[in-house]
Amino acid sequence: MKVAFFDAKPYDMPGFDRFAAGTDLEIKYFETKLSEDTVSLAAGFDAVCVFVNDTVNEGVVNRLYDLGVRVIALRCAGFNNVDTRACFGKIHVYRVPAYSPYAVAEHAMAMLLTLNRKIHKAYNRTREFNFSLSGLSGFDLHGKTVGIVGTGKIGRIFADICKGFGMHILAYDKFPVQNSGLNYVELPELFAKSHILSLHCPLTDETYHLINDDTVEMMKPGAVIINTSRGALIDTESLINGLKTQIIGGAGLDVYEEEGDLFYEDQSARIVHDDNLVRLIAMPNVIVTSHQAFLTQEALSNIAETTVDNLLRFSRGEGNPDTEVCYRCQRQESCRKERQKKCF
Ligand code: NAI
Repeated sequence: MKVAFFDAKPYDMPGFDRFAAGTDLEIKYFETKLSEDTVSLAAGFDAVCVFVNDTVNEGVVNRLYDLGVRVIALRCAGFNNVDTRACFGKIHVYRVPAYSPYAVAEHAMAMLLTLNRKIHKAYNRTREFNFSLSGLSGFDLHGKTVGIVGTGKIGRIFADICKGFGMHILAYDKFPVQNSGLNYVELPELFAKSHILSLHCPLTDETYHLINDDTVEMMKPGAVIINTSRGALIDTESLINGLKTQIIGGAGLDVYEEEGDLFYEDQSARIVHDDNLVRLIAMPNVIVTSHQAFLTQEALSNIAETTVDNLLRFSRGEGNPDTEVCYRCQRQESCRKERQKKCF
């Protein structure tokens, strides 16, 4: 099986080479992202391997199909960048449902701690031998309320980490987890009572701009927002307004709704034209990381292992119902429960 690997980075290749060695997979790495402009590179390949910022819209899917590609192997969990409906009946879509939920949950807590205790500012100060503490005070996390939206794998681990800090947890999920011991409330209550809000739900039509002018209005003044999920869960204009009016006390953003053309690349010698991102980065109470929450050795190894396994199983005609994306319900669990087999 020949695989065109898009948006390849130096940290991807060792793991994929290791797990593909001695198998029937032949991987060609392309640095470019998959898009309508680059899709022709997939000619002659059986599969494409893509990541979070590759564009796999209807046009790209149809072109891939015409070129003979029969599998899209996502090397990530989220699949909002793939038009799965367009894939139905044409191309199978696999993902890596879990590679290290700990990596993402721990990064969310790292962002919260950094923001709250101003580690980013202290680091810069002491490098210049400025040992002043002015402006560095934070607050105890102990006793504060954290609102967690999305209590899947990552959200539940984040909840456990927060429990370790002695925080109170409020949760919201469209499909609450039975017997999880979590205190589920409706979103307005979660927004009104949380000192900290952490987003761990997928990006869907329903969750698009979950944080908007109306929901910012509902929040506790000074609330800190952490987003390690997908950028478009937050309406950036509303976030900036909330930060300006200080309803929002800080934001830790590992994802950004317009990240596609910026993240994962060195833009340091260029003028960044995205004024909203520039504005956010200029704020002292905002931290932006470049969609790196997943980036641990364990996660990279698990991603490569599962993706190679997905491709090999497909090439042997076996498939894998646990990692194939259901185009219709888009939820592994509900798909299995309600239909006993994949909608695909
Ligand atoms: P998961 O599938 O285990 O959990 C997602 C949870 O969101 C589920 O419990 C689901 O019921 C819930 N949900 C679905 N629709 C919802 C809605 N409308 N409102 C509230 N909750 C809803 O996924 P997991 O592994 O916990 O990942 C969560 C998200 O984290 C992924 O969708 C992905 O976007 C993001 N992610 C980010 C990474 C990064 O590097 N920054 C890496 C991996 C995942």
